[in-house]
Amino acid sequence: MTSLREQDPAIFDAIQNERRRQLTTLELIASENFVSDPVLEALGSVMTNKYAEGLPRKRYYGGCEFVDVAEDLARDRVKQLFGAEHANVQAHSGASANMAAYLAVSKPGDTLLGMSLAHGGHLTHGHPVSYTGQLWKSVQYGVRPEDGRIDYEQLGALAREHRPRIIVAGASAYPRVIDFARFAAVAQEVGASLVVDMAHIAGLVAAGLHPSPVPHADLVTSTTHKTLRGPRGGFVLARAALLEKLDKSVFPGLQGGPLMHVIAAKAVCFGEALTPGFQSYQRRVVENAQALAQRLLDRGIELVSGGTDNHLMLLDLRKRGLTGKIAEEALHRARITVNKNAVPDDPQKPWVTSGVRIGTPALTTRGFGVAEMQVIGDCIARVLDKPDDTALAAAVEQDVLELCSGFPLFSWEPVKRPGVEG
Ligand SMILES: Cc1ncc(COP(=O)(O)O)c(C=O)c1O
Repeated sequence: MTSLREQDPAIFDAIQNERRRQLTTLELIASENFVSDPVLEALGSVMTNKYAEGLPRKRYYGGCEFVDVAEDLARDRVKQLFGAEHANVQAHSGASANMAAYLAVSKPGDTLLGMSLAHGGHLTHGHPVSYTGQLWKSVQYGVRPEDGRIDYEQLGALAREHRPRIIVAGASAYPRVIDFARFAAVAQEVGASLVVDMAHIAGLVAAGLHPSPVPHADLVTSTTHKTLRGPRGGFVLARAALLEKLDKSVFPGLQGGPLMHVIAAKAVCFGEALTPGFQSYQRRVVENAQALAQRLLDRGIELVSGGTDNHLMLLDLRKRGLTGKIAEEALHRARITVNKNAVPDDPQKPWVTSGVRIGTPALTTRGFGVAEMQVIGDCIARVLDKPDDTALAAAVEQDVLELCSGFPLFSWEPVKRPGVEG
């Protein structure tokens, strides 16, 4: 058998270098995580070879008996995990899951009320550059300026004024608990369908650490790769009454053949999330986020809403005269990986921003605890106090490397190749 290394050294080297990057940096991007070996194994399996348009036992292709097993397991496990009546696990991503959900309960041209990207929502919640803002009439709610919390009064007022067909709850950069019952009451009052995008908090919801949207929403969408710690992908949960509409909107409405290797890996991820170990992992994610937030506050760094209830926090750098772009680059030099992020009512452009989003799911998977979060908080503060100081960045980099060396990440060792560091 020809190995990847022999056949395609350029790609092999890129993978090895990426592996080394993951191993030797502090991964604080709130939407990332490190999957288990069994998830990776399923993802790299022969199920990628199979076409399986349709659903288990109702396929447009022969030979689907084993991929059916994987998809049945994925659906059953995710329903059990979230107490849902119906699940479709074929969405290729979070964006596709949202599109499928919107198409199941509305049509282009209808009005969609979602959280503004500038206030922590996602592009697919109605931003003008996304299909959602182009195909739907988009109205956007946000957070209150005084405390950074969702403005439920504004939500209600906009819903009464615009009578949306869909209300979308959920966010990409919101550090506080979301009151899904309150969203449901507004949706009911104006006759809208409630779609909750729980992509960021799905792991916390699965572990009972964030209230579940499932009892309140008509449809719940999610990614599988953030706090849930599975392969890249999406899924949608639905009330039984929406079962057929949802399935049809995924296929043939939106997608062709499902990615059966990814669905197999989703099944593995859902199986892992059903174990008690996953609950304690999520508890540590939240504890770590709170410890890191406290350390940053102690070091004089402002956080939107003053802290966090979940796995992420949003640093507001305006008073420091720093942009998110400069902060991201300075932290990168010290091997700390974060993403620049708009703060509510950000005066800077989206490519620059005045904030940085930080999350603890990935490093918690790696085994980091509260003590390490305090060291990391100090490392971040040191860099942000003097973002242009390259000697300081080099000193922090050494501390980061030392911290990383105490927490191995992969059970497999790379094959050494001349010229490749890994
Ligand atoms: C809340 C939310 N929904 C949807 C998505 C989109 O997911 P994907 O990148 O898989 O399309 C994201 C991604 O960041 C997200 O944060």
